[in-house]
Amino acid sequence: MKIIRVKDYQELSRVASQLMIDLLQKKPNATLGLATGSSPIGLYQNLIQSYQRQEISFAEVKTYNLDEYCGLPRSHPESYHNFMHRHLFHHVDIKEENVHVPSAEGNNLQAQCDAYNELLHQATIDLQLLGIGGNGHIGFNEPGTSFKTETFVVRLTDKTREDNKRFFNSLDEVPTHAITMGIHNIMQAKEILLIASGKGKQQAVYELVHGPVTETFPASILQQHSHVTVVVDEEAAALL
Ligand code: GLP
Repeated sequence: MKIIRVKDYQELSRVASQLMIDLLQKKPNATLGLATGSSPIGLYQNLIQSYQRQEISFAEVKTYNLDEYCGLPRSHPESYHNFMHRHLFHHVDIKEENVHVPSAEGNNLQAQCDAYNELLHQATIDLQLLGIGGNGHIGFNEPGTSFKTETFVVRLTDKTREDNKRFFNSLDEVPTHAITMGIHNIMQAKEILLIASGKGKQQAVYELVHGPVTETFPASILQQHSHVTVVVDEEAAALL
């Protein structure tokens, strides 16, 4: 794992976005694995600015998102489909047919998982962006998830629902389930870029880098991937 320590969230967003910009300049038809949450918002803003300066284009880029809440219509402001369009896709020249976010609408969620998994099997993700949950989740792979899993419906832990409550009016509104790429899917990416910012991530970043590789801390599997870059700010890196 390559660890890049930076001062604060602004520098983290700049350094991490530059890695993605470098890739898009080298490979304009790259396939990106994308993430939601607070962590990547600054990075996405930098990508939009780089696009506006005509340094990069998304015209030939394909994207696959990690996860989606169950039970929210795509039009809901907090669906990850909506999040991605609001924070990135609406502002760049990506083609809608090249955007992939798991669909978690309807009754047959297993069929939705299978369909998304099939898409992932056909794709090769050049760079997978990840945040990290306070409990070590990546995507929505909660502690205890087998490292062998592929796209599945996950029951969110109380901690994750509590952490994500800030985006909703109340805890009751936070979905109880999500569809997520499995750990095995994530590990297929050629390269992984994980970003972590702030005090709340200190322990998780320590476990990620120095902890044992264990399913009780899903992100620890990244120690076994051959090309991982972790960009952490001072607060998140405090225990390293
Ligand atoms: C969310 C997402 C993850 C994200 C993580 C951390 O629930 N499913 O993909 O990495 O939790 O989010 P944040 O960046 O807001 O701390």
